Parts: sequence; structure tokens; C-alpha cells
Amino acid sequence: MPGRDREFTMRFLAGAENRNVYGNVHGGSMMKWMDEGAGACAAGWSGLPCVTVAVSGITFHKPVAIGNIVEVRARLIHTGRTSMHIAVNVCSRNPRHGEYEDTTSCLMVFVALDAGGRPTPVPKWEPTTPEDRALQARAVHLRELGQHIQEELRTFESPAADGG
Ligand SMILES: CC(C)(COP(=O)(O)OP(=O)(O)OC[C@H]1O[C@@H](n2cnc3c(N)ncnc32)[C@H](O)[C@@H]1OP(=O)(O)O)[C@@H](O)C(=O)NCCC(=O)NCCS
Repeated sequence: MPGRDREFTMRFLAGAENRNVYGNVHGGSMMKWMDEGAGACAAGWSGLPCVTVAVSGITFHKPVAIGNIVEVRARLIHTGRTSMHIAVNVCSRNPRHGEYEDTTSCLMVFVALDAGGRPTPVPKWEPTTPEDRALQARAVHLRELGQHIQEELRTFESPAADGG
């Protein structure tokens, strides 16, 4: 669709400022990059300011070495009324040799906001390929699962409630 980007990809070198105590990329840096990539994808689709409302299934499959090329790929896979569900995959390779390897993945949900900071409708995304239909179905299923998980997590929300 002209004027709307369903995908956003960024590539850069993992700089030394992202080093963890083991010499690889810090998990917090990786999460920031994923949030930035998915946020750009959400803004590119909706044309609106967007905020992260949920992150699920974040998995660090492999460490990323400092100095590697990092590719963050964010893909819209489902739209609700005001929400955009974005699959984020990160891969990385040594710039001198080697192939890209998958390192990190998650699903992020962003909400578009109006001028008053309230959730506002986003353009609908319709999958047209079998792969995209499967991705959308997975996003819907994960949202349902997420609602159950959220109920369970409420137990941890107020640790001081018992006076401890
Ligand atoms: C995002 C925010 C505006 C949503 O407000 P809200 O009162 O929950 O709004 P709603 O209940 O109408 O939900 C808005 C959308 O978010 C979705 N949503 C809310 N919580 C969700 C969750 N845990 N997982 C997935 N989607 C969620 C709703 O399903 C709804 O989607 P839909 O319109 O497509 O059906 C509010 O929660 C907020 O400001 N959160 C803080 C955001 C932030 O600071 N992020 C970090 C910095 S960017």
C-alpha cells in the first residue's frame, strides 16, 4: 500500500558501549533496539505517535559479539482497532566473515495515540499470503494467551500488598 510501510529494517554495528560483563551485547541494549525497530514500524504503518503496550516471548537464542553487524527486522503481523502487533527478529554476523545468524526474537504490541494521548484507530492490515494469514492467526492466538498470562501475573503486581 503506497505511503504505508509494513516492514522496517535497521542495520548497524554493535558498539562497545553495549558491552555486558561477558564481553557480548547487553540484553538491555538488544531490547532497546527491538523496541526502536518495532516503534518505527508501528509509526510507519499508522502515521501516528505510538507507544509500546506489551512485549511477549522475548528469547535470546544466541549472544551477539561486540563489533558484529546487527540487523533488526520488524514486521506488522496484525492490527486490532488501535493496536499493532509486530514480530521482531534480530540476526547478526561478523563483518569480516560468516553468515547472518538468528539471535533474538519477540512479539511487540504498540498502540497509536491521538493528540490527547488516548488510543486511536489504526489503518487495518489485511494479510494476502498464506504465510501472512498464519502469522496473523498466531498473533490473535498469542493475544488470547497473553490475557490469561496477565491474569496470572497480577499476583506479582503488588509485592507490598501483604505488608512485606
Ligand atoms: C497504551 C495505553 C495508552 C493503552 O491504554 P488502555 O487504557 O489500556 O487502552 P485500551 O484498553 O483501549 O487498549 C488499547 C489497545 O491496547 C491493547 N492492549 C492493552 N493491553 C494489552 C496487552 N497487555 N497486550 C496486548 N495488547 C494490549 C488493547 O487490546 C487495545 O487494542 P485494540 O484497540 O486493537 O483492541 C496505556 O496502557 C499506556 O499509556 N501505557 C504506557 C505506554 C508506555 O509508556 N510505553 C512505554 C514507552 S513507549
